[in-house]
Amino acid sequence: MTSKNKLRRKALTGAALAAALTASGTASAQSKATSGMPLSDEVVRARADALIAQMTPEEKAGQITQYFDFTDSPEEAKRVTDEMAASRAGSLLFVHDPAELDRLQHIAVEKTRLKIPLLFGYDVIHGLRTIMPVPIAVAASWDPGVAQQAQTVAAREARAVGIHWAFAPNLDIARDPRWGRLIEGAGEDPYLGSAMAAAQVRGFQGSYIGSPGHVISGPKHFAGYGASIGGRDYDEVNLSDSELWNVYLKPFKAAVDAGAGNIMSAYMGVNGVPATGNRWLLTDVLRKTWGFKGFVVTDAGAAHDLLTHGFAASNEDAAVRALTAGVDMEMAPPFGMSAFKTLPQSLAAGKITTAQLDDAVRHVLEAKIRMGLFEKPYVDLQAAKRVLADPAHREVARMAAERSAVLLRNEGGALPLSRRALKSIAVIGPLADSARDTVGPWVFDQDDKETVTVLAGIKAEVGSGVKVAYSPGVTLPARVNKSIFQSDEQFAAGKARNVDDTPEIQRAVALAKDADVAVLVLGEGQIMVGENASRSSLDLPGRQQELLDAVIATGKPVVVLLMSARPLDIKGSKPAALMDIWYPGTQGGTAVANLLFGKVSPGGKLPYNWPRNIGQVPLPYAHLTTHQPKTVEERYWNESNTPLYPFGYGLSYSTFAFSNLKVDKAKVARGVAVPVSVDVRNTGSRKADEVAQLYIHQRYGTAARPVRELKGFERLTLEPGETRTVRFTLSPDDLSYWAASTRSFVQDATTFDVYAGNSSTAALGGSFEVAD
Ligand code: BGC
Repeated sequence: MTSKNKLRRKALTGAALAAALTASGTASAQSKATSGMPLSDEVVRARADALIAQMTPEEKAGQITQYFDFTDSPEEAKRVTDEMAASRAGSLLFVHDPAELDRLQHIAVEKTRLKIPLLFGYDVIHGLRTIMPVPIAVAASWDPGVAQQAQTVAAREARAVGIHWAFAPNLDIARDPRWGRLIEGAGEDPYLGSAMAAAQVRGFQGSYIGSPGHVISGPKHFAGYGASIGGRDYDEVNLSDSELWNVYLKPFKAAVDAGAGNIMSAYMGVNGVPATGNRWLLTDVLRKTWGFKGFVVTDAGAAHDLLTHGFAASNEDAAVRALTAGVDMEMAPPFGMSAFKTLPQSLAAGKITTAQLDDAVRHVLEAKIRMGLFEKPYVDLQAAKRVLADPAHREVARMAAERSAVLLRNEGGALPLSRRALKSIAVIGPLADSARDTVGPWVFDQDDKETVTVLAGIKAEVGSGVKVAYSPGVTLPARVNKSIFQSDEQFAAGKARNVDDTPEIQRAVALAKDADVAVLVLGEGQIMVGENASRSSLDLPGRQQELLDAVIATGKPVVVLLMSARPLDIKGSKPAALMDIWYPGTQGGTAVANLLFGKVSPGGKLPYNWPRNIGQVPLPYAHLTTHQPKTVEERYWNESNTPLYPFGYGLSYSTFAFSNLKVDKAKVARGVAVPVSVDVRNTGSRKADEVAQLYIHQRYGTAARPVRELKGFERLTLEPGETRTVRFTLSPDDLSYWAASTRSFVQDATTFDVYAGNSSTAALGGSFEVAD
């Protein structure tokens, strides 16, 4: 990407629950909202066309140009405002102060020739003021309802301050944990990813585009970004058509089917053709095959990037190629010039047609019309304040964090802790009391003072009866290169820091010795995950491993809470308990304390295979059988090829048994759905959650298929001793796939194995046949 500066600016600018929402008035606001009606396609089109008929080519190019507006840079802010006031920008991104959004909108509506309101976009990835757990965490809840609620809250806050469009969800399937943006998506699986995709689109947009209290959802980055070579962010992607259709495109299809109003094109090249200039992706697949009706925006500067890629000959050529491929709006490079500015001259030179330009403008204007911006362009500042402070939003954040945690290890029932049995706890680790890290990356408007760290959550939970001692133990190392989210000053300060951690490690060990239990919060700082945060190692950064081993050596019970968004390698260390708490958000500490002390039982499941070490990656559970399946675990001579923890795995404070797997029909015709059911019983003594998961394997057919593929799941809460029958339906779609041999979707006449249980290694099996 050409200008990382904009993201430096990102760093500087930053200053359910149905019941809970009802309690604070959200539900009534929403019921009013949904009493509105979507406008008909004909009305929207006619209104857009009437405007287009009045526009000059320059105004059209402006309407489909989006600029970053960094209000902390007065010169840049003035340049952008001038461009916008001269009708040379139709959308701005990154403004999030309600008064400023309102001021800019007044200029657009009152000063521009055609009085067309601006569309304001923003990276509302996991919350605006109330920060939800990061998206990979929400995926680990295996509860699309949580994803929908979280994004409903995010949308409500965004819309209240005057933002109309969220650049989310990130739907990039990620099978290589070196890739830092794993945190923004739903992990490695297309089925789980599709369920989370649709739920998030519904959360952002409500029941239709323009629902009050909602925003346009912009799934990204279309497509294949998560497969960047070596897990290196921005690098090229080479994917077979089979992987594209069966894995990487699936969540996007689900989002389009759910009505997403926008799609963002990706930065990198897919099989040699940059995604932003890729007509096959943006037009043939997205518009023609899937019938997408919204507008396509480039990623930041990605139109100009066509030149950088060595694809376009000039900035003009880049704009022509992007528009012709199917891009409707350019997100211009931060602090840079727009490529789309050159479209009028390309129109005059006959390189694009008026119809092509008008199509793009229409897609953008239609979004503005549907959002009701012509009727209600301004911000209600008082209402914005109220919405941002809504306590019901914090409740959703807490619930989401509780449901996201994944318990990976719990020897001898070390967890939950008993408040009554404990006299002292040592809370240790560089992430135990860091508000900024607790909320994770991609947040710019959070309230750090309001954020509950793990230390604060534990203290609040145990009260004065239990002594809580704290040591950060070690410092986190600085990055070797500057993050695009860091200022030069922050980066330099990190580099200059030269702390000898030895004395603090010793102090932490002493605290652990004095305590009944040590709770370690270890992992990666938020600057080590996200965009531009790929990593060549899965080790705990800095001297955290040494700290962990030293605390374990005290012999005290050790609970490790991992704050991370990639599977980390703790080198065979054996703490009594290990729980992934991800970056749990504003209410993270409260949620973690509730989990630690058993107010709720963990019920999250891994959204990816957790490798034993980095040499195994990528290690998707849904691999093909291939040659010598019997030795599949012996592909490396030096260690087992199995994951340390499989996809779908996660413990709880109770135990569950799966039985009575019933496949409704032993033989069905092609095109017929297959009902499958399984009994899940809570065999422990606590009320707890379990996720029933259904996997299939096709034995033979037009192409070879994965050993297992997730095709159904349901998260349940069961009382001790309770049994529930979970019913799934395998639809013909679930049994179909794209085959390279026919270059089409097929459903084979074949035999399917089915497996049900609580992870991708579920043993309980059955089978059925599909006949011609
Ligand atoms: C990221 C996008 C993001 C955009 C705007 C880009 O660098 O790839 O995901 O929406 O910046 O901040």
